[in-house]
Amino acid sequence: MHDEQLCQVGTVGHPEPVVHTMGNKQTTAKQDLKAVRERSLSKQALGQVTGRFHVLPHRIEDDYVLEPSQELGSGYNGSVFLAKSKDTHETFAVKPFRLYRITQAQKRELKNEVEVFLAMDHPHVGRLRDVYEDESELRLVMERLEGGELFDRVTAIGRFTEKDAQDTIYQILVAINYIHCMGIVHRDIKLENFLYDSKSYAHLKLIDFGFSRFTSNKRMQLGCGTLAYMAPEVLGGSYDLKCDMWSVGVIAFILLMGYMPFTGSDDEIRAAITSGQYRIDKPRWEKLSENSKGFLQSLLVTDSDQRLSAEQALQHPWVEERNSVVVTEESSHLDEAIVSSLVDFARASHFRRACMSMMAWTLSNDERAEVRNAFMELDTDKSGTITMYELKRVLAERVSITDSQVLQIFNALDSNNKEEVNYSDFLAAMMASRIAMHDDVVVAAFKRFDVDKSGYITVGDLLQVMGSTMSKADAKQLVKEADISADGRISLDEFISYVQSSEEHAQMTVLEKLLEGEMALEKADATTQSSRNPGQQTSMTSLDPTQPAPAPKSRMCVLL
Ligand SMILES: Nc1ncnc2c1ncn2[C@@H]1O[C@H](COP(=O)(O)OP(=O)(O)O)[C@@H](O)[C@H]1O
Ligand SMILES: [Mg+2]
Repeated sequence: MHDEQLCQVGTVGHPEPVVHTMGNKQTTAKQDLKAVRERSLSKQALGQVTGRFHVLPHRIEDDYVLEPSQELGSGYNGSVFLAKSKDTHETFAVKPFRLYRITQAQKRELKNEVEVFLAMDHPHVGRLRDVYEDESELRLVMERLEGGELFDRVTAIGRFTEKDAQDTIYQILVAINYIHCMGIVHRDIKLENFLYDSKSYAHLKLIDFGFSRFTSNKRMQLGCGTLAYMAPEVLGGSYDLKCDMWSVGVIAFILLMGYMPFTGSDDEIRAAITSGQYRIDKPRWEKLSENSKGFLQSLLVTDSDQRLSAEQALQHPWVEERNSVVVTEESSHLDEAIVSSLVDFARASHFRRACMSMMAWTLSNDERAEVRNAFMELDTDKSGTITMYELKRVLAERVSITDSQVLQIFNALDSNNKEEVNYSDFLAAMMASRIAMHDDVVVAAFKRFDVDKSGYITVGDLLQVMGSTMSKADAKQLVKEADISADGRISLDEFISYVQSSEEHAQMTVLEKLLEGEMALEKADATTQSSRNPGQQTSMTSLDPTQPAPAPKSRMCVLL
């Protein structure tokens, strides 16, 4: 009804999130956070958690200059402000939380936010650089996303073209498919929680995991989120991951139609959502393509069983249209330098790979931006991780590569033995040659390894950073790799020369590197043949791209 007053986005300010009813668990915020840190460690690889979660005596002020008066934005939890890294002088966003005199609900949200955010690792999700816990506060240090909220963009331009809306929704779906594949529900999907990484308004990232949680298959009851975006089943008190997809429908509606689909008093909004009656401005609606109308209708469905999942929405014709440009060799982001970096990484030692993983977390957004499209290209099903099958299929199109070479690359990349390669694993591999190892990145990585701040990386530091998977003997062996002066510890100079000494293969072509690797592989095979335990023998399952099932994983690090 186009003559009814339409509620333009921005005219009523930000809709506020709400949360209902809470439990009464008898734990302190500190105890909860300790458990979070331990659980996160079991989900993540190498130093990716320990190196980022800092407890006393390590303070945020050791690493960052805080600028609390420079607010970057604010939301349900107060303001997010600017900070500057003392190592790289890069700017960051800090989200602070008080740890005393907080309610059970706030405690639970904080716990979920930290746990989920620590597990996030995707080109379309904001990156959590560090977490600091002191006597009274917990602070999340995130990459600073300089392009502002999607909310501000919509407010500024009123309505998106279909093409821009398709592109925006595609990015949102990729982020949501990733979190859903990880079993995470966001519960506050809205325009304010997607930020552009720069003023070019091309790359969006999901933020704010305050209402997120890992879910099992059990349905959830807690009513939380922002009413205007809330799914009918959330209002009804029994819902699952699909509630986020309703909110995507609301966003898509706003982008295409230029106004909020459900408006009025809270009671009116609830009634309209429950009955699925969104306001239709006929002239605008009729101008939309059939595919875009079909897309909105398949998300704003009150029966969540009928609603598209993120995976299905990515395959909807309206979203697929955006992808219709076939990736050719020219348009591909997977150039020889990227493949070459992957091969180098597979040949690197365990410690060198750990160093690269640590450095991958200190890369700037610009540096990551150079290679993130290649990651997205390898992740053909957009689940947010790369499987062996995907790696084989895409690499085989680019270079002539054998199954055992792919397996070797895959095993080196799969740092947490989860049969899949995360974004940071991929970034670590790119450190090998694609991304320059600036001195400040290397120094920052050294500091992360030097947990006790002694000025040296010791066996004790490594045991803390690498977690329980590493024995003392292994840690000693790793220290030896870089310890030129043989004093049992690694100085900064030793560390710098160690990580920067990997250039010897940089000038070789991918094929030369692969051939060299094959020869070493054969040699190693010949020497281990007689003593091999048949139970552990690597059986190379066929990686024929026509076979959908990914090959079972077995660790084969004969070159390492
Ligand atoms: N990484 C960031 N870079 C720049 N601005 C940010 C960043 N994170 C948050 N903000 C700004 O702060 C606002 C509130 O942050 P958010 O994490 O959504 O907190 P809340 O839980 O309070 O909603 C965001 O909507 C955004 O404007
Ligand atoms: Mg928010």
